[in-house]
Amino acid sequence: MSFLQLENLSKHYGDFTAVEKLNLTVEKGEFVSLLGPSGCGKTTTLQMIAGFVDASAGRVILDGRDITHEKPNRRGLGIVFQSYALFPHMTVSANVSFGLEMRQIAPAERAERVRKALALVHLDKFGHRYPRELSGGQRQRVALARALVIEPPVLLLDEPMSNLDAKLREDMQVELREIQRKVGTTTIMVTHDQSEALSMSDRVVVMDAGCAIQIAKPFDAYENPVNQFVSQFVGKANLFEGLVASVNRQGSALNVHGQLLTTCDPTLQIGERVTLCLRPEKLERCSPQDEIIRGRVRSGMFLGNQWLYHIDTGLGDLLATWQNCGNAACSNGEEVSLRWPADALHIVKREHQEAQHG
Ligand SMILES: Nc1ncnc2c1ncn2[C@@H]1O[C@H](COP(=O)(O)OP(=O)(O)O)[C@@H](O)[C@H]1O
Ligand SMILES: [Mg+2]
Repeated sequence: MSFLQLENLSKHYGDFTAVEKLNLTVEKGEFVSLLGPSGCGKTTTLQMIAGFVDASAGRVILDGRDITHEKPNRRGLGIVFQSYALFPHMTVSANVSFGLEMRQIAPAERAERVRKALALVHLDKFGHRYPRELSGGQRQRVALARALVIEPPVLLLDEPMSNLDAKLREDMQVELREIQRKVGTTTIMVTHDQSEALSMSDRVVVMDAGCAIQIAKPFDAYENPVNQFVSQFVGKANLFEGLVASVNRQGSALNVHGQLLTTCDPTLQIGERVTLCLRPEKLERCSPQDEIIRGRVRSGMFLGNQWLYHIDTGLGDLLATWQNCGNAACSNGEEVSLRWPADALHIVKREHQEAQHG
């Protein structure tokens, strides 16, 4: 049995549904992210696990025990909220020690556990300071130490890095994941930042309007998004609509704005209307005789390690990302021949429709 199970977990506010029948199983030691746009129900889900929001329906099962309606302090989970909510009038050590005092742990053991927790987050020398004497990243680490010191079965993180600036945030992502691996605490993190979720998680739960749309390893969610929403929320996507023109055992040919494109999907039906996703980095420049389509560069944007181009083509405006190899890959107005691997076209939506007559 999985360590943490959410079964049809739901939250209704009047006739508004914040979370709808969410099912998720989390293994011991796993790092799972709830990813989705603002308002999709991530925090509500986390709060139902923590016990601060009462579930309207469904169950939360921790290590075989139904905790759905148990009080938060009886669940004993470690929580780091968006605002770290450190006690301003207490030193770092006292902040970290607080949860242990509540649990009536003896002073000697308390001191030792606080020391270990602070060492874990690299704040060994900061125990005597007050929160106001720390940087944002240091405060974030105190909040993490405070959550971990009680040795919780599950660590819940709600947008834990949203107050940090971009560079620090990246460093903290690496550090947080290293700490989590070291202590092995089962962790659920809420984030609206897809790159954060992809880089840190064993699995992501992509949410939209209160529902879990796809639960997958980051690579699979990116390469095989189950629908249009996931394809656009997880990474960038070129989307086009096509009509299936022919099908054989290897795949199908689709008519997209009068261009015939082939996919590796042999399960489609002639006349079916589908939406295709092509990731920007799958587009390659090629010689004119190898091209699938020709386009004209409308604009280029420099991203440091990459260039991002908008290219006008017969399929519409295509996004292409190419590695920065020391020179700009192309200039505005330049004509480019483009191709992509046959399996790069991924179907994200299928609409069966009546065959057209006449
Ligand atoms: N106490 C509440 N009463 C009514 N609606 C709420 C309450 N808390 C949250 N909501 C609504 O539930 C939805 C999900 O909220 P939340 O879980 O905080 O979203 P997220 O964390 O994904 O941004 C939002 O539309 C929000 O307005
Ligand atoms: Mg939230």
